[in-house]
Amino acid sequence: MSYGLLRPLLFTLDPERAHTLSIAALEALGHMPRGLARVARRYTLHDPRLAQDFWGLHFANPVGLAAGYDKDARAAVALPALGFGFIEIGTVTPRPQPGNPHPRVFRYPAQQAVINRMGFPGEGAAAVARRLAALPGHPVPIGINLGKNKDTPLERAQDDYISALELLFPYGDYLCVNVSSPNTPGLRLLQGEEALRGLLNAVAAANQRLALQHQRPPLPLLLKIAPDLDNDNLDAIGSLALGTAPLVHGFIATNTTIERPASQPGLSESGGLSGAPLLERSNAVIARLYRATQGQVPIIGVGGILSAADAYAKIRAGASLLQVYSGLIFRGPGLVREILEDLPGLWLRDGYPDLAHARGSTA
Ligand code: FNR
Repeated sequence: MSYGLLRPLLFTLDPERAHTLSIAALEALGHMPRGLARVARRYTLHDPRLAQDFWGLHFANPVGLAAGYDKDARAAVALPALGFGFIEIGTVTPRPQPGNPHPRVFRYPAQQAVINRMGFPGEGAAAVARRLAALPGHPVPIGINLGKNKDTPLERAQDDYISALELLFPYGDYLCVNVSSPNTPGLRLLQGEEALRGLLNAVAAANQRLALQHQRPPLPLLLKIAPDLDNDNLDAIGSLALGTAPLVHGFIATNTTIERPASQPGLSESGGLSGAPLLERSNAVIARLYRATQGQVPIIGVGGILSAADAYAKIRAGASLLQVYSGLIFRGPGLVREILEDLPGLWLRDGYPDLAHARGSTA
């Protein structure tokens, strides 16, 4: 069934219920090899012009799945068949927790926006590790996005990131330290430069230790930031990725915003806003980070991508890779292939021979 037919049905359901159903459908699909192959034929696109390598990882295309969709890695077998170039699991907290009271996800179709205040519900790192350990392989790179439990005091936040990392280290291709969700009280205070240096030093040390223990290289360490930081903050954060011993190897920009655009009244629920109203601000953050790092540090651009043109704008702002979430709710999984089909035409139209030349051209 096409998403055009399915969407009105899904939109009659509570958003979180629709999400749970879609995860269950993908989890079931993961056990059906023939069905999975059929889905892959429909949704995946192979175009060598879209391939890139970062952090020693191969990305067959730049469009990934953002964190928050598959928090517990239930759909990790099936998701690559939807055409993603990489997927990010999580946010995973060390211990299971229920998250905030329901309802906690709200759709705004007229604005193509979502507000969520989930608060990291999840089964915890051990359950996610078991699921990832059982995967038959990694057809696309898998990122693991880590957060802290709600009841862990902020001063002990680093213990949470490290204990989750200890369980998940063998199963990820890159690591994302998430300090930017607005729905865990105090979490975003970890984005201050001093707090961040302390946290990242501790996570980097654990990463090195685990690399020795497991006899594999340390995981590339990415930092996911909020769109609500000011330019001084962003410049300080950019500097963490520079120099001979960088504390992070890339950025994911951005998470949801706590701001509400004045031009769009009605987005009244509390929580993090994503989707179309986030595009412009997240692009400005990407551009600032790109300039702060002289274009030397890969940025995964996320926030408000609902079309190939939006994806291209993010690349021009300075993103090397992209992620989508809210766009999938409004446009369905076909959005990924649509972006991949149209991207090369967009950079060629502007006279860029390839994606790398388009990157950062409006930063
Ligand atoms: C999210 N996002 C998110 N991010 C994260 O790092 N950890 C998480 O657990 C979640 N959870 C989550 C739940 C829901 C329902 C939404 C809509 C979003 C944020 C997400 O990864 C992304 O950064 C933003 O949504 C912006 O991208 P889009 O949605 O505008 O494409």
